[in-house]
Amino acid sequence: MAGRTKNAFNMGPPPAYKVDDEDTLAPRWYDVKRWGKKVWIAVATIIAIVIIIIVVGVVEGEKKNKYPDYTKLSYSLTDTISGTSFFDEFDYFSGYDPSAGLVHYVDSTVAKQYNLTYASSSTAIMRVDTSVTADTVPNASTGRFSVRITSKKQYSVGNLFVFDVVHTPIGCGTWPALWLSDPANWPTNGEIDLMENVNVVSSAANQMTLHTSSGCSMGVKRKETGKQLTTSCVNTTDGNAGCGVSGSATSFGSGFNSAGGGAMAMELRTEGIRIWQFARASIPSDITGGSPDPSSWGEATADFPNTDCNINNHFRNQSIIANIDLCGSWAGTASVYAESCKCTPLLPFEMERRLIVTVIGSGTCANQVANNATAFTDAYWEFGKFSVYSAS
Ligand SMILES: *[C@@H]1O[C@H](CO)[C@@H](O)[C@H](O)[C@H]1NC(C)=O
Ligand SMILES: *[C@@H]1O[C@H](CO)[C@@H](O)[C@H](O)[C@H]1NC(C)=O
Ligand SMILES: *[C@@H]1O[C@H](CO)[C@@H](O)[C@H](O)[C@H]1NC(C)=O
Ligand SMILES: *[C@@H]1O[C@H](CO)[C@@H](O)[C@H](O)[C@H]1NC(C)=O
Ligand SMILES: *[C@@H]1O[C@H](CO)[C@@H](O)[C@H](O)[C@H]1NC(C)=O
Repeated sequence: MAGRTKNAFNMGPPPAYKVDDEDTLAPRWYDVKRWGKKVWIAVATIIAIVIIIIVVGVVEGEKKNKYPDYTKLSYSLTDTISGTSFFDEFDYFSGYDPSAGLVHYVDSTVAKQYNLTYASSSTAIMRVDTSVTADTVPNASTGRFSVRITSKKQYSVGNLFVFDVVHTPIGCGTWPALWLSDPANWPTNGEIDLMENVNVVSSAANQMTLHTSSGCSMGVKRKETGKQLTTSCVNTTDGNAGCGVSGSATSFGSGFNSAGGGAMAMELRTEGIRIWQFARASIPSDITGGSPDPSSWGEATADFPNTDCNINNHFRNQSIIANIDLCGSWAGTASVYAESCKCTPLLPFEMERRLIVTVIGSGTCANQVANNATAFTDAYWEFGKFSVYSAS
């Protein structure tokens, strides 16, 4: 008789229905048997809603806490760009500026002629021309000579880059950048901006930004010392501002330069993209020693984890690019330029410049580029060595 309960044997006749005082009163809320259909539906609905809220909460909470495992990778040196052959590793871009700047990017011959790129055994300098004025032939009325170089070699996920930067460009109207991209396949193959700012006249915060095609967001858990700006990396949002992070107040411009510059390190891996900026005095010894180990560097300056962005799909065939644009779609925007550059109008006796001033207006970015050559003497990049390590 296994399985039967004791009560089954002792079951007596069913109790008579007992009528008592309670039955004459309104049913109590906990008297489940008396609930009507409507009450049951309401209760079921409430339970369903509670379950949904809990499930959504758990999923959202997990998503919020999701973070990649940046476990240590071993790197070995694959490329060094340095010394007198520094610029041999790059192509000189000499077409129209894709960013609508007032700049004529010159080829390597003209760059050499105007000494816009210059490499010694220890440094490589890339500058904006300061010899052309409004009165020379050629003049700078439709743009000033500058340089944009793109590395011949391209890199994909699984590389660590270390850039020694001695001097960042300064000047009203400038828009310098040190970045990586595949310009022929933008934004499909992504863009990683390591150093960028506009109209820097003293110390400023460096900006580090990704630009991608659709499906890449940084509105996720991140571990970084920099300040998060906009979170969508997609080119069609926020006017193509990208997902930026800004560094410390002395990470670009005079503060950075006067401390001897520093090192920018960027790890491009499946788990994410991390960028560290080190001032010269605090470059880790494993970097100077030539065996960089990002797992020993602490929190990154900018962290772009793969949580909501497939790094392998969005970042491919990246060339190293350095340029100094002038004015253009960021630096030259009237409000942006006016905010950072307080240039005085030309004096009345500067008659020979009157035409340009009338046409393009004084106190504008265009006027600065065309007429104020000496304002660009500090508009130069100075680089030490660039090293690329690949993960084994
Ligand atoms: C070119 O620029 C470099 C770096 O500023 C400088 O040392 C060199 O003298 C310049 N060369 C000429 C020919 O002006
Ligand atoms: C600048 O140079 C162009 C081309 O040589 C010339 O047509 C123009 O008149 C010049 N502008 C000024 C203001 O000298
Ligand atoms: C954004 O990228 C897409 C390709 O992914 C391209 O078709 C579109 O023109 C780009 N838009 C802007 C504003 O850059
Ligand atoms: C990357 O570049 C290589 C060599 O030019 C090319 O074969 C390949 O298709 C490119 N990959 C992508 C995803 O653009
Ligand atoms: C030239 O540029 C300097 C530095 O930005 C600025 O102080 C000066 O006002 C400019 N001069 C003119 C005539 O615009």
